[in-house]
Amino acid sequence: MSKRLYIQEVATRDGFQIEADFVPTEAKIALIDRLSQSGLAKIEVTSFTSPKAIPNLRDAEDVMRGIRRAEGVEYTVLVPNVKGCERALACEVDEINLVMSASDTHGLANLRMTPEQSLVQFREIIEATRGSGVFINASLSTTFGCPFEGDVPERRIYELVQRLLEIGVQGITLCDTTGMADPAQVERICREALNAGIDRFDASLGGLGGCPYAPGASGNICTEDLVHMFQRMGLGTGVDLDRLLQCTADLPQLVGHDVPGAVLKAGKADRRYPGPKWMEEAAV
Ligand code: COA
Repeated sequence: MSKRLYIQEVATRDGFQIEADFVPTEAKIALIDRLSQSGLAKIEVTSFTSPKAIPNLRDAEDVMRGIRRAEGVEYTVLVPNVKGCERALACEVDEINLVMSASDTHGLANLRMTPEQSLVQFREIIEATRGSGVFINASLSTTFGCPFEGDVPERRIYELVQRLLEIGVQGITLCDTTGMADPAQVERICREALNAGIDRFDASLGGLGGCPYAPGASGNICTEDLVHMFQRMGLGTGVDLDRLLQCTADLPQLVGHDVPGAVLKAGKADRRYPGPKWMEEAAV
């Protein structure tokens, strides 16, 4: 195994934000503490957004302060504006994940801000974090297509990436908000925008999640399925898949419904099922 990949778990933020029911604070903390022991590189704990906009994450401070931070794991939070940044800094997060949209309509629907307005906010936020040592990441929603506007011109993506880097953003996440991307497009955009040096992947336990303000958002890449796939491809992630699967096994009870992840149901690729009964009988 040569290349190391880094898996960033988003279930307790992106996953829980869209659930019909509020996941109790203690249950969120317990899940994050378990995930912290599974070899994930980063956990997006919660978001410091308006509790009116995202009521499921209204307990952000309690969750962020209640978790046991494990060495080697980075704890990040989503922040949409300066107020969210102040709340995040007060909780001593490792990273602030700024969120903006590449398209005007989704930006306005989700954040009440066009991309241009988000960039203005980001400048203020970066100024407010100066000296804190906090890492600044920016997530660019609708990079691969917008559920309202359709294709976002690729030159617009490259321009926004460039401008984010210019204002001092240190990491960039390209988001496929509603699953409109195709592999050729992903390869092209990643190569152009970031020279394709990509080794970090956001994924969500059980495949939970989606943006509540993006019609059609119906989940995320499933963390355990992604880790399983990388393992099969001989790519190291540092993640203990069995531990992760134990966390996933408890998810349906936690959220009150089945989750889409496949490996939990089908088993890992080395699982073997007994053949049909008639074969066994015929062999006797
Ligand atoms: N944390 C807590 N409260 C916040 C806040 C934050 N980061 N930002 C704004 N608010 C509160 C304000 O205090 C105000 O409260 P009040 O009505 O009690 O006075 C209210 O929210 C409206 O404030 P305003 O500045 O007018 O914000 P807005 O209505 O334009 O909302 C966002 C903008 C970005 C704060 C809001 O749309 C939001 O949080 N969206 C969530 C985006 C998200 O996480 N989407 C999913 C992830 S992709």
